[in-house]
Amino acid sequence: MSLTGRTVLLIIPGGIAAYKALELVRLLKREGGRVRAVLTEAGAQFVTPLSLQALTEEKVYTDLFSLTDESEMGHIQLSRAADLLVVAPASADILARMAAGLASDLATTLLLATDKPVLVAPAMNVRMWTHAATVANLATLKARGVSVVKPEEGPMACGEFGPGRLAELPVILEAIRAHLTPAARPLAGQHALVTSGPTHEPIDPVRYIANRSSGRQGHAIAAALAALGARVTLVSGPVTLPDPAGVAVVKVETAAQMLAACEAALPAEIAVFAAAVADWRVAEPAALKLKKAPGAEVPELHFLPNPDILATIAQRAENRPRLVVGFAAETHDLLAHAVAKRLRKGCDWIVANDVSDRSGVMGGAENEIHLVTEAGVEDWPRLPKEAVAGRLADRIAAEFSGD
Ligand code: CTP
Repeated sequence: MSLTGRTVLLIIPGGIAAYKALELVRLLKREGGRVRAVLTEAGAQFVTPLSLQALTEEKVYTDLFSLTDESEMGHIQLSRAADLLVVAPASADILARMAAGLASDLATTLLLATDKPVLVAPAMNVRMWTHAATVANLATLKARGVSVVKPEEGPMACGEFGPGRLAELPVILEAIRAHLTPAARPLAGQHALVTSGPTHEPIDPVRYIANRSSGRQGHAIAAALAALGARVTLVSGPVTLPDPAGVAVVKVETAAQMLAACEAALPAEIAVFAAAVADWRVAEPAALKLKKAPGAEVPELHFLPNPDILATIAQRAENRPRLVVGFAAETHDLLAHAVAKRLRKGCDWIVANDVSDRSGVMGGAENEIHLVTEAGVEDWPRLPKEAVAGRLADRIAAEFSGD
């Protein structure tokens, strides 16, 4: 009964394989899971709400309006009360609507509103599956963290042969188990604090000092730790990124606010400081906008040092997180600076990366890092920032399991 206490929200779009969703419900229930089913209008052409209701032993949700008898936020609650959202069989149409971020019916509204992991098991005609539009939509969804159970190759109901058949149910079940069982959540019960993005230090009410950090790496780390089961608090400076799924986000602007938010978030077992915090702030930000006047002097800015958030938390006597990870963004002598920074700041690990212009890391999609620990330096290959995040989260999980 590996799924006892876990809830799957099963979304069934239209498709000839929709009947297999009924068997999937039965398998999930046999494992002790709770299944709430959502049937799209097209899905209801293939399976009936009544069969689903009998198998799930729950009310079946068929369209947006069925929720109006609940509170106004019914659809949000429905999507968040589940541990996992599963779309099976995922048609080309629903994948396209998910990729576009549409909320044109209950199913897509739930998928857009959820903060829980999403797994899709596509099934469609081989030409639809290999069409550039579907390929691009899947790539978009994967980049956003959606898991995909790939379809299989074989004869199809439409008479053609090729990839596009819904994966075998035991394969889908295994993918669901992998998301929901404790082994997939090695950081369950741990609280992780992550900082991300730049800070903005005001000069006057309309101007500020900032840097080129996009927050992409820090946000990906928060998402990766949450995916391993950690409760994550993400303290983020101003970024244009969406909040990662399943993460509590505290939005700040300045370094002082970021430090206060980090301290308020303690205790935490894990702390990863990926933010590009401004080292200095303007000593006295002007209360009114600085105006230029003909012949007037150019304003002179006086700076004060900002608190070092990483060092402050790493050197706390009380409530120091068990594992404190800092970043070292360097343009030269990377490893020497990173090794020295680990000792100077008092953190356990330093994730060192080259942010010189030629590396393209700052604001870019990839990162090439070196993990500096007490034991030495691990060189990682150049990877997308999401993959760096996943690897770091795995490394942290291994540390906590004593591997
Ligand atoms: N950091 C921080 N608070 C600051 C400055 C930096 O928490 N006020 C953290 C960053 O989040 C990062 C690490 O310290 O994890 C290293 O930041 P970096 O800017 O690379 O190093 P600095 O401490 O600024 O040292 P230097 O300017 O010499 O490179």
